[in-house]
Amino acid sequence: VGEDVRVPLFELIVGMSSVMDLVCPAVVNHHKQVAYISCTIAEKMGLPRELRDELVLAATLHDVGAFYLKDRLELLHFELDYPHEHAESGYLLLKQMEPLQKAAEIVRYHHVPWKNGEGIAFKGGAVPESSHIVHLADRVAVSINPQQCVLGQIPEICDRFRHFSGDLFKPDLVDVFLETASRESFWLDIVSPLLSTIMTRKIGIGTVPLHDLSGLSRVFARIIDFRSHFTATHSSGVAATSESISKLAGFSDAECRAMRIAGYLHDIGKLAIAAEILEKPARLADDEVKIMRSHTYHTYRALEPIEELHQITEWASYHHEHLDGTGYPFHLQSDDLSTGARIMAVADVFTAVTEDRPYRKSMSDHNALAVLVGMANDNKLDRDIVSIVTDYFGEINSIRETAERKAVGEHRHFLDQLASANG
Ligand SMILES: [Fe+2]
Ligand SMILES: [Fe+2]
Ligand SMILES: [Fe+2]
Repeated sequence: VGEDVRVPLFELIVGMSSVMDLVCPAVVNHHKQVAYISCTIAEKMGLPRELRDELVLAATLHDVGAFYLKDRLELLHFELDYPHEHAESGYLLLKQMEPLQKAAEIVRYHHVPWKNGEGIAFKGGAVPESSHIVHLADRVAVSINPQQCVLGQIPEICDRFRHFSGDLFKPDLVDVFLETASRESFWLDIVSPLLSTIMTRKIGIGTVPLHDLSGLSRVFARIIDFRSHFTATHSSGVAATSESISKLAGFSDAECRAMRIAGYLHDIGKLAIAAEILEKPARLADDEVKIMRSHTYHTYRALEPIEELHQITEWASYHHEHLDGTGYPFHLQSDDLSTGARIMAVADVFTAVTEDRPYRKSMSDHNALAVLVGMANDNKLDRDIVSIVTDYFGEINSIRETAERKAVGEHRHFLDQLASANG
């Protein structure tokens, strides 16, 4: 794992937003569509590259704060009652991330109506023009009926935006949109199944050095975890655990840092699972278990296009594979599973059995160890790595606890800020 490696930020963000849009077929590609429309409007307006990039990042993640499927579906209706809560929570999640600070501001106000100029500010804050672009792009995207040919819908959609110009949308932006709307290619791109490729080709947003990815991936972990009380600290716990086991296993400093990043990202595929399932306070039904089990597949597909992360992708995505081939979703065998992947599998079980879970409290240390040793004896988990955990249980567990306690504090802070903003 070279420290001088640079990671393409936009591809990582697109990967993440694509997973979020797997929550339900009705919202598939929504984030990319809004990003594409925003980007096209920005280009037509001649917005400087830097502003365009911020706008595109914001659009690609704009509904990151809508955790429930019910919220995501409601947002598909053209007229909305009070859509600002998910905008605020998206802002709170994203503002932690330095390269996304501007995008966070844009997300915060992405449902503010123009109201003939009143929309220049909202609750005392200045609304960036880019928020109005995302607002318009978002409403264009939801105006398209995916069951019918898009080209036939153009006149009606354009009429609607002419009608709401000034009231909901900034008039000069509506004018730019209407000019853009005359090109069929604009509409065909929006509904194209190849939109991911179209977008990554169109947008070459810069790269971040791998050593910065550690901080970034911690923010990703919050986005993944804060969608439910029950997962609120899990990725932080796994990151700390996997890093400390890899240290004890003799990994280099750089590898240990990469392991930490892999830990933060290992459940990124859970963004495809609605909070309704994550929050379920009882055991899951069979179908729900199947949905839940798909998450490591989505982790793999979200990270895999980024060649620079190839090792991290493997370590992160194989955490439910077992040495005897009975794991999921790839049913890999021991030969396919590197030491890093084996550590991650142990770290995930370790964290799961030592932390509190929806339908049960954490296990006693004795029972937690018994689960790990039992899985090693059954040839599911690696024996040598489980031995490290048995030998250093107290040390690893206190590192995990410290990390999860910190995450609890951050989660509480997030909820407090959200409550005071919406109160
Ligand atoms: Fe939204
Ligand atoms: Fe949206
Ligand atoms: Fe998992």
